[in-house]
Amino acid sequence: MKVDGIPYRSIWLNENGWAVDIIDQTRLPHEFMVKSLGSMQDAAEAISVMRVRGAPLIGATAAYGLALAMREDSSDENLVNAAETLLATRPTAVNLRWALARMQQVLTTVPGEQRVAMAYALAAKICDEDVAINHAIGRHALDVIRNLWQQKPTGSETFHILTHCNAGWLATVDWGTALSVIYQAFDDGIPVHVWVDETRPRNQGAALTAWELKSHGIPHDVIVDNAGGHLMQHGLVDVCITGTDRTARNGDVCNKIGTYLKALAACDNEVPFYVALPGPTIDWQMTDGVNGIPIEQRDAEEVTHVAGKNSEGRVDSVQITPDGVSACNYAFDVTPARLVTGLFTERGVCKASEEGLLGLYPEEME
Ligand code: MRU
Repeated sequence: MKVDGIPYRSIWLNENGWAVDIIDQTRLPHEFMVKSLGSMQDAAEAISVMRVRGAPLIGATAAYGLALAMREDSSDENLVNAAETLLATRPTAVNLRWALARMQQVLTTVPGEQRVAMAYALAAKICDEDVAINHAIGRHALDVIRNLWQQKPTGSETFHILTHCNAGWLATVDWGTALSVIYQAFDDGIPVHVWVDETRPRNQGAALTAWELKSHGIPHDVIVDNAGGHLMQHGLVDVCITGTDRTARNGDVCNKIGTYLKALAACDNEVPFYVALPGPTIDWQMTDGVNGIPIEQRDAEEVTHVAGKNSEGRVDSVQITPDGVSACNYAFDVTPARLVTGLFTERGVCKASEEGLLGLYPEEME
């Protein structure tokens, strides 16, 4: 991904060789600011206040967080404590648990003095793998998208894709998951137009997805979260593609709150609904996503207030509810597998079901 012509990833090692640089996503789209994380606590804070967010990027940041922790104190005790602190930052995206478990599994087998180098090397590997995985997701999905485009009546000028939240390069180390598909379809010559759900309460669609698509030159319109059903009813959506924070073994997909309603509307209007995911987002122990996946509840102020740029160009937050009102902030919901047309993964496209997933990941058979 390029920002003003300069290639970036969303996380990288600082030139000093040990600090970890991130794009502070709480400042986008109004300000592009790089922040250096110098400690495990910095990494934990960045995840919990969502300077970094998106399932794969949370995992990558946690991996580097453990590397920073090992630099501070490479004892067994600190390894366990740091992993616990990082794991407690956000509950829903399983990539966090996956990355920490992978790091711990390797680090516990080597003596303390080798842990720092080993931790940095493994965190870098997790990041490189994420980039390759996300690129492959888009490549595999391209055939499906091309087919859908070719099925449109001759004379159609645009292929409309609806997406929710931000499943782009900012949610991953690069490429994105749902947006990887969109970037590759657009680069392949399909005349893509994207409906971008604003994605209240934090507006990751309006702020981040729109910023990414604009940077890549992809035509798009931001829509309010409730517009999707109307657009689908009137034939203005050819396919929905979203990401996921945790996919259960049975194919249920958990993603940003509101995804389920889009899937229901898609089903009612016979619009294909695909979900793009990297292997580390699959929770193989979770057999029932709807009843089992923990749903993060965040601060009510994200609902009662909205942040944006005011007429003087300053970023500000305003209250939109009456004083003292109570609000609930469920951050994710689960879309049952029956509403999902298919899953785009780095190994290919499959049905949203245990059989479908095991066909691509046979090593997970019990
Ligand atoms: O709360 P967020 O911004 O971390 O939520 C992100 C999403 O819901 C994404 O759609 C999901 O992580 C998949 S992106 C690769």
